[in-house]
Amino acid sequence: MAVNNGQNIFTDKQDFEDQYRDKFIQILGKYYGECTDQERYNVLARLIAEKAREIQSTSYIHANKQVYYFSLEFLLGPLLENYLLNLGITDVVAAGLEEMGTSLQKLAAQEVDPGLGNGGLGRLAACFLDSMAHEGMAGFGNGMRYRYGLFRQEIKDGRQVECTDNWLANGYPWEVRKDDSSVLVRFGGTVVRHEGENGDFWFSQEGGQVVKAVPYDVPIVGYGAKTVNKLRLWSAEPAEEDFDLDAFNAGDYARANKFRSDVEAISTILYPNDSGEHGRILRLKQEYLFVSAGLQSILRAYKDKYGEDWDHFADHVCIHTNDTHPAMCGPELMRLLVDEHGVDFNEAFDIARNAISYTNHTVMPEALEKWPINTFRELLPRLYMFIDEVDRRYKEQLLADSNGNTDLLASTAVLWDNTVRMANLSILFSHSVNGVSDLHTNILKQSVLKDFYKLRPEIFNNKTNGICHRRFLAQANTAYAKLITEAIGTGWLDDANELNKLSAFENDVEFLDEMDAAKREEKERLAAYVKKTTGIEMDTNTIFDTQVKRFHAYKRQLLNIFKILYLYNRMLDDQSYKPAPTTFIFSGKAAQSYTFAKEVIRLIHSVADVVNNDERIEGRLKVVFIPNFAVSNAQLIYAASDISEQISVAGAEASGTSNMKLMMNAALTLGTYDGSNIEISELAGPENIKIFGLRADEVQQVYASGTYFAQNLLNQNPTLARIVNMLTDGSLARLSGNFESIHDYLLINNDPDLVLIDFDAYVKAWEELTQSYADRRSWNARALHNTANSGFFSADRTIREYMEDIWHV
Ligand code: GLC
Repeated sequence: MAVNNGQNIFTDKQDFEDQYRDKFIQILGKYYGECTDQERYNVLARLIAEKAREIQSTSYIHANKQVYYFSLEFLLGPLLENYLLNLGITDVVAAGLEEMGTSLQKLAAQEVDPGLGNGGLGRLAACFLDSMAHEGMAGFGNGMRYRYGLFRQEIKDGRQVECTDNWLANGYPWEVRKDDSSVLVRFGGTVVRHEGENGDFWFSQEGGQVVKAVPYDVPIVGYGAKTVNKLRLWSAEPAEEDFDLDAFNAGDYARANKFRSDVEAISTILYPNDSGEHGRILRLKQEYLFVSAGLQSILRAYKDKYGEDWDHFADHVCIHTNDTHPAMCGPELMRLLVDEHGVDFNEAFDIARNAISYTNHTVMPEALEKWPINTFRELLPRLYMFIDEVDRRYKEQLLADSNGNTDLLASTAVLWDNTVRMANLSILFSHSVNGVSDLHTNILKQSVLKDFYKLRPEIFNNKTNGICHRRFLAQANTAYAKLITEAIGTGWLDDANELNKLSAFENDVEFLDEMDAAKREEKERLAAYVKKTTGIEMDTNTIFDTQVKRFHAYKRQLLNIFKILYLYNRMLDDQSYKPAPTTFIFSGKAAQSYTFAKEVIRLIHSVADVVNNDERIEGRLKVVFIPNFAVSNAQLIYAASDISEQISVAGAEASGTSNMKLMMNAALTLGTYDGSNIEISELAGPENIKIFGLRADEVQQVYASGTYFAQNLLNQNPTLARIVNMLTDGSLARLSGNFESIHDYLLINNDPDLVLIDFDAYVKAWEELTQSYADRRSWNARALHNTANSGFFSADRTIREYMEDIWHV
């Protein structure tokens, strides 16, 4: 692929400077010299966005097939530096800015990091947008423009405090509001049956609440700048000015604005994915709003291009549903085709199923959404009729095919037990269902979705996740990326498989030493950030041992803390015991209402308080929690890490993607045989990764056998019992009290994530791994081997697989 060197965007740094200066008057009505860094960043981003849109207007017009990626979450991260890289204009812009007395770094630091996602699922969606543009296909994102991001995490007295993330406070220079593309979405009201003269009939939904969905488009620039796609984010507004003037005049401002605030609430916040708040009606409204608005705008564009030729809709349009949140795409597409375009019911079902595909991202029961039928039907009466009828026909057919066996019905029907089951809805309407790692897809086939697999095995397939290697290696780890490029050229940016060429350097002592220096540089960068944001010092001579991800019981941050307590206790007991000097890095958010996960964050801070302040351990161990995990600080953390902790209980993590980012950044994985760790271990080879603990099938055996009793295990393991006791005996209570609920989780809930079972194997694996750090060249050779074999995990590869097997682009 031709890589754009940016010359047709700015001929040279002077040309850039001229165009940039002009923009200030145009946008802000004042000169560059009068502006703050924030304003300068804003104008720069507006200029680059405009350049991107110029390419966009020509890039997908001729595409024969368009893919729409429906996702309630997109964690974009900062865009400026990424887009400069992708457009090939980093150098010319940086040079121009220097000339103007500022720096790219300074302006880039002004950029917000929109928190429009919870974690892996939302970041995957953003990586996919990047790769779709890079692969030159017409692939668009469809999501929600939440007024506030997830939340800004602050730590007070060791506890997580959630603060409003007002990411739009300074405007978002990448987006454009498209008023003329707004559509209406109706909630509630009643369904009216109309009859024609010749006995024909049709339905309409009337009354209720009508919401105007207004799109904001963000350009998505692919590396090499051949294709620029867009991400469309919907915002909810009142359809017409419904302002109660009487109430206002009477001084009741709240009532005067009530309608507006009811509507705007729909796009106000992003729901935390594991908070148990899914019953909230607002969440259902969000899901329907972005589904209906997205589909309406797709149908509009389709009709402009192909007229009412709905038979061929699926030849030109793919609708990909990211998890169950867009599950209503199937029935809503049917509703629009039948009610608004006169398509026959059966035909509409076939069109929908041929167009729609679904990715499952988790086996956690709380994520398999269900809605009470009554709530659902009241809010979406016409849509419900479609679900009801499709489900009725499905059940009838299934009973006929299976000689009246109702087992399959109970597991696969959509409407069951007074609920609408969204995973079942997604599957019923999809021609493809995929998991996100080999192990995960097998678990779907063999257990979670086994009955669906029995009925339609041909629709199941695996698409192992990937990550944007340009952002997470080239951009995040500048020191290492420079070294890589000097060694193998720039081809790896375009094609991550070229990283393989690095294998030739695994015995090159000079290269390995330079790698060491590069890692050191990245550690310094992270240390400076941590010092600035928390005041904590990090010793860059130590191993940086990293676990960064959402806080969740199954991810077992607790196991990591127990290991640290083990090392601490042992050092106090035995002065000759000297573990490798290590800085343990944690970062991540816990859902606001997920008490256990928040307690684990508090525990980390308490352990840090005890360990970091105990002079007897001579600074050998240090625990650092980096607040407010987001794409931007994640980039710093990955680059600086030596060890990648991926220690979820096997069978629970669908894939994981921080494991891939860290592998690529030359960190050695210490992990269980879970999710994509398995594929990482196959690619890295057994000497270059440390696997420990129960495997997924063994975990299932423990659960099934019913013979595991956590208390028994503790009775036989005094070392571990001592650690568990520390939770409640006051030794960790200095900051803010004991940890009874964690103690209960282990002993009353009987250690549901098998932390205690895996503990010994984990500690042993950690000790073996860290002991080998002393021989730094051999360590770096193994780390390099990881990078060299990480090309498979580029999202470019994942997207090519989706294109070939699912979307047929
Ligand atoms: C979810 C899963 C995680 C996966 C990600 C992307 O966040 O929990 O395992 O990597 O989705 O598929």
